[in-house]
Amino acid sequence: MQFTKANSLHGIITVPGDKSISHRSVMLGALAEGTTEVHGFLQGADCLSSISCFQKMGINIENDAKTNIVRIHGNGLHGLTEPSDVLDVGNSGTTTRLMSGILAAQSFESIVNGDASIQKRPMKRIMTPLSLMGADITSINGNDCAPLKIRGSRLHGIHYDSPVASAQVKSAILLAGLYAEGETSVTEPYLSRNHSELMLRGFGADLTNNGTTVSIRPAKTLYAQKILIPGDISSAAYFITAGLITPNSSITIQNVGINPTRDGILDVCKAMGARLTCSNLHEMTGEPVADITVETSELKGTVIEGSIIPELIDEIPILAVLACFAKGDTIIRNAEELKVKESNRIDVMVQNLSAMGADIEGTEDGMIIHGGRTLHGAVIDSKLDHRIAMSFAIAGMNAEGITEIKEAECVNISYPDFYRDLAALNT
Ligand code: S3P
Repeated sequence: MQFTKANSLHGIITVPGDKSISHRSVMLGALAEGTTEVHGFLQGADCLSSISCFQKMGINIENDAKTNIVRIHGNGLHGLTEPSDVLDVGNSGTTTRLMSGILAAQSFESIVNGDASIQKRPMKRIMTPLSLMGADITSINGNDCAPLKIRGSRLHGIHYDSPVASAQVKSAILLAGLYAEGETSVTEPYLSRNHSELMLRGFGADLTNNGTTVSIRPAKTLYAQKILIPGDISSAAYFITAGLITPNSSITIQNVGINPTRDGILDVCKAMGARLTCSNLHEMTGEPVADITVETSELKGTVIEGSIIPELIDEIPILAVLACFAKGDTIIRNAEELKVKESNRIDVMVQNLSAMGADIEGTEDGMIIHGGRTLHGAVIDSKLDHRIAMSFAIAGMNAEGITEIKEAECVNISYPDFYRDLAALNT
């Protein structure tokens, strides 16, 4: 896939449904009594992996890819059946970790495996707390990664002090807590995205929050819901950045989820001097939503660190691109989690942005970007990481010469029509 300089970007668009919420709708829908109807489901490969795993456990799921309406015919908390095959999670860390919390409490054994990237991602972070709850979960190759063998057990509640602010870890524990004896609680160093908590409550689970601690009591029944999924702010992030850095541009992205545990990118953009406004604020199934408008802006560097990191963790690759177009330095700290995403996103961003002529250094827990250098085209190795490919499409549209992205089709994971939607803005 090749990109050249865009003169200006204009238009009003919507982005596909939120990935995190789409996964959770399948899982809670499967465990509920009745039919959960989901509108705005993300047809990305990751969410389709969640659907196919639960289908393999006997759940009837109808997915209309034309309307993005998914109907999940729940079998209740104890209605999953033993899969006859490996549960294939593809590239999806969310499927792997959240589903493991559910599998730990079933009356059968399962094997969870995925692609080469998944087989390198750390699973000890869920194996440790789930084992403390009484789960029998092992890494088949003994390297704390997938494939995982999970033999369902009787679980008991724990209090877990999580060393990482990870919604996947928190959610795995809460989902296991639905089945555990007594109360289960998790404390995180900083608040990670809270979609599981919001949706669990909607389905009738008994949860309480206190600061960065969330507690759940075992559930008797979850009740099917109608769920309207807003656009994914992590997908909107590419258009937000494109609108800010491309000359003479103005883009409105309608219907974007702006949950405060996810909207760190908006605060960072504003701190950098972005012309960015949110309008039409409303709620969709308990999640705050807005239309976001951006216009070409003069940007200055900033510091991104601490509690905001989990609120923008998936947006750091595109924020690194944004920082190249700002005056002065942008420093990103406390983001060591980037090393264990779909690729090592610190190394991959530093390598690829350096190849385009950016002045960027990788650090132990982030990056330092000295903004203001003119970028030039280069051959970009996406490492099969969807967020890397999308970030460099935007960089390539603001660089001299030709930028070629290898294995560009990996955007399929979270945004199958990304290149089409981007091309439509190029005027
Ligand atoms: C997600 C949580 C985050 C995020 C991922 C989706 C989720 O991962 O990076 O893309 O849906 O819970 P961590 O829990 O590893 O931070």
